[in-house]
Amino acid sequence: ETKPSVLVSSFITPVEQFFVRNHMHVPFVNINEYKLEIGNGKSTHSLSFDDLTEKYQSHTITSTLACSGNRRGAMNNEEQGTIRGAPWYVGAIGNARWTGVRLRDVLQSLGLDKEGKYVQFYGLDCETPKRCYGGSIPIEKALSDDVLIAYEMNNESLTRDHGYPLRIIVPGSIGARSVKWVNRIVVSDKESDSPWQIFDYKLLPTSVKQPQKSDYDAAPAIQDLNVNSAICYPSSNEDGNKVKILSVQPNHNDIKNKKLTIKGYALSGGGKQIQNVQVSLDHGKTWLEAELEQLAEPHMRAWAWTLWTYHIPFDDLPSKPFDIICRATDTNENSQPESPVGIWNVLGHMNNAWHKITLQIDEKCLKKGS
Ligand code: MTE
Repeated sequence: ETKPSVLVSSFITPVEQFFVRNHMHVPFVNINEYKLEIGNGKSTHSLSFDDLTEKYQSHTITSTLACSGNRRGAMNNEEQGTIRGAPWYVGAIGNARWTGVRLRDVLQSLGLDKEGKYVQFYGLDCETPKRCYGGSIPIEKALSDDVLIAYEMNNESLTRDHGYPLRIIVPGSIGARSVKWVNRIVVSDKESDSPWQIFDYKLLPTSVKQPQKSDYDAAPAIQDLNVNSAICYPSSNEDGNKVKILSVQPNHNDIKNKKLTIKGYALSGGGKQIQNVQVSLDHGKTWLEAELEQLAEPHMRAWAWTLWTYHIPFDDLPSKPFDIICRATDTNENSQPESPVGIWNVLGHMNNAWHKITLQIDEKCLKKGS
């Protein structure tokens, strides 16, 4: 998980600091033996790494990769129950430049773009030869402009942790569909039957505490991300879930300007851009507009996150511990719910409740500024 302060220190998250989510081992790949199989169940084409990179035009996008379990830790509560899965704070997310070939170009060139309802992806990380990590996306998404079979992250070859030699990047969708170490792509009328498609990455109703197969069958696999935001600075480098009150010493610039800088990220799903990010110092009664840093992206192709900043004048800071809350709204007017209680789900997916931190400012610094 990436530290919050790192998330907001650059628009592009450095590879070494980018979060890693692996369900199994990280495979070793001998590039000379590596093959990518692409088919529809009846016929299969086999491409080497060089076939793929030399034959198709390269395409680069800047896209946020976020786990649907990001911010899951904050869903845990005694009354509703313990959430299954890694208790991420706000750092199961990062923003990178991805270079690869368009999945659409490859499917079209092999005559695989006219059939099927889904495109399934499988990785080289397998529990048994028949049980490999996998996922699928609807064919319409697979044939859209920016879904990649990627070989570079931030202008360098993919590292082993992030899927060397090839991974899928499905911008705007949850990270689980961006299958790493991909070696098999199947166009099909069915979704992938991988457990990570049919069980794990589903949003179950709040009432379900002990999921049965019928609960999973009734819920669709999650695809698009939802609108979300988090405060990342000031932050603690300790486990953010455990820090209840953050003691803050404003930095040199803030003391000079007599303002406390607050920073964070915001994003939405399916290509929707962030319209605004707001900050509240009075538990949501009044809201202040943050400044946004975002790319000018084509309509419904806003894949990169928005970083935001707000400066609070020292005079407006309560001296006791106080709460700062943030929330974002996207261009479809979707905004975040106030609390995780109403969206609690036992697998802890898609927590996009208002993010709150509690700060205690070093009084001596405030005086220096006055
Ligand atoms: N692909 C494979 N083959 N195996 C995995 O365990 N994890 C998925 C996805 N792709 C996974 C995978 C999940 S849940 C996420 S959030 C992203 O990879 C994380 O990508 P990253 O580790 O490059 O940040």
